[in-house]
Amino acid sequence: MTQSPSKNRVGVVGLGMSVPTKVLTNFDLEKMVETSDEWILERTGIRERRIAEPGTTTSELAYPAAVEALKQAGLKASDVDLIIVGTTSPDMVFPSTACVLQHRLGSTSAACFDLSAACSGSVFAMITAEQYLATGRYKNALVIGAEIISNFVDWTDRSTCVLFGDGAGACVMTKVDRGGILTTDMGSDGSAGELLYIPAGGTKHPASHTSIDQRLHYLRMNGTEVFKLAVRQMADSAKNVLTAAGLSVADVDCFIPHQANLRIIQAVAKRAGVPMDKVFVNADRYGNTSAASNLIALYEAVQQGTIKQGNRVVLVAFGAGLTWGSILLEW
Ligand code: UT7
Repeated sequence: MTQSPSKNRVGVVGLGMSVPTKVLTNFDLEKMVETSDEWILERTGIRERRIAEPGTTTSELAYPAAVEALKQAGLKASDVDLIIVGTTSPDMVFPSTACVLQHRLGSTSAACFDLSAACSGSVFAMITAEQYLATGRYKNALVIGAEIISNFVDWTDRSTCVLFGDGAGACVMTKVDRGGILTTDMGSDGSAGELLYIPAGGTKHPASHTSIDQRLHYLRMNGTEVFKLAVRQMADSAKNVLTAAGLSVADVDCFIPHQANLRIIQAVAKRAGVPMDKVFVNADRYGNTSAASNLIALYEAVQQGTIKQGNRVVLVAFGAGLTWGSILLEW
């Protein structure tokens, strides 16, 4: 459903990101599974991804991103009254990673929860925060997309292990006088849930010797079907936020798609009629960081000067669920 422009504009006033230092290249992967740098580059455009050291938690990876976003926003941790973490790789089943992060930051007056929308995590979390901020229920939200998805990747499955990487992106959102979020769009299709999923670890298949023997705790994907649906839903969602604002692709300066892989991004751009020189891509360096991907890309696009004050930006996401969503904002 698409939401139209609001009088109570909410914007992004600080950004942060954090990725592990360890780089896993396509050449490293050649030593782990039967694949090649050539195949991975041609099919995905990914050259390398970051992988967290064993024992690192998602909240630990998110922490420096959160601190940087707060610094950019000129806020103290105690000023934050809402923390939402989009993640599919939380520290624990519960408590939420948002609560763990709150404790470490010292944001004692914040309400905290995790949001499960897989790779659409940052965009869904930003749209959720926008609602609370626009109504005045909360003042300063810290929104994070963070994943240590490498724990859930089957490193013996060449069809998926080449695609993913770890990372965290963060933003601080609050009401703004100029710019901010113009329109948003979110959608879901639960009927296609088993195209991309982790079968075990929940109530359907609680951890057992059998679930471990059958490798049910690892991510599974029907890549071909996911590809087709990702392209259709992301292109349509991007068009929805533009239509709701009475704008066209020509009015947008920068598109920040979910960094699933270069081929999907190119196909989305083609279907939506967006020239690739308006599309920000960093999947070559990080792979698919799931919920972290849109916020990491937004961070880098701003850092590199690709997005400047007054620019119109469209964030577009797609993930397991299925879930998809877009945000049109003025920087
Ligand atoms: O957030 C959304 C997350 N999902 C995605 O980003 C994935 C969406 N899907 C895709 O991007 C593509 O489907 C993939 C990149 C995953 C695969 O590309 P494809 O062109 O659809 O390849 P395919 O699955 O049709 O496989 C073609 C061949 C197969 O061999 P045969 O059956 O033709 O002999 C695969 O076994 O490539 C083989 N293959 C590989 N070969 C070398 C699959 N993975 C690899 C690999 N290295 N890593």
